[in-house]
Amino acid sequence: MRLSEQQLQESTAYLKEKGFDTPEIGIVLGTGLGQLVNAIENPITAHYNHIPFFPLATVEFHPGKLIYGTIEGKKAVVMEGRFHLYEGYDFIDVTYPIRIMHQLGIHKLFVSNAAGAINRTYKKGDIMLIEDHLNLQGGSPLAFGNVSEFGDRFVDMSEPYDLDMRLKLIAIAKREKINLQKGVYAAVIGPQLETKAEYRMLKIIGADAVGMSTVPEVIIANHLRLPIVAVSVLTDECDPDNLEPVDIQEIIRIANEAEPKMIKLFTELIKEL
Ligand code: HPA
Repeated sequence: MRLSEQQLQESTAYLKEKGFDTPEIGIVLGTGLGQLVNAIENPITAHYNHIPFFPLATVEFHPGKLIYGTIEGKKAVVMEGRFHLYEGYDFIDVTYPIRIMHQLGIHKLFVSNAAGAINRTYKKGDIMLIEDHLNLQGGSPLAFGNVSEFGDRFVDMSEPYDLDMRLKLIAIAKREKINLQKGVYAAVIGPQLETKAEYRMLKIIGADAVGMSTVPEVIIANHLRLPIVAVSVLTDECDPDNLEPVDIQEIIRIANEAEPKMIKLFTELIKEL
């Protein structure tokens, strides 16, 4: 896909027409993390496949939707389901919804994902605040010809995750007695899980968690100067010396179980913004 200002404007116009009126906050919900939508009051739903110029759904892609409404009294737009590189989308596709939420007017972005725990002291069911990342996806959502029409070409990544929101989340976790781990998220393409040798490598190069999303979205948020905060729900323990075969149903079950903690963190943060 190639990015054009006109496409962005048509996508945005469709949503504004439906009533997506100047949301303040954008939220991306990761795999197995859909329950936050129950907290949206007066929801308006737009299916991805009805929004002009949204990436086209692949056969196996669960139809995702954008939901607009209020959460804790603030106007928000929530992405239920995201596009992944492993589904065959390119970097511009997977970050298109972030640009649309930005055009709608959000000035804060919250992102969640399910990830494997590389740090041996982190356990499945833990929540990890992402402090930094490793882009191992072999590309960038900013590597296209006319990027400078949309923002800087050379984007600073010295502090990609907003410090103020991170400190707020740390304080909220303490107050709510949620054990919040902190660390570096490594993004791979997938969809295959990692080999033992790959998990060893990820540990050596400084990852605390590994997953298949988020980093392109974070790069675009920085490109748009949109403050972002991101958390991983750790769904499996990637111990190369005792590696068990992966069970995707189990990953989704753990994500569901741990999700209330993430919802608490996000809704409390919304109250404080
Ligand atoms: N690796 C990559 N992605 C993941 C994992 C993992 O172990 N667990 C959940 N998402």
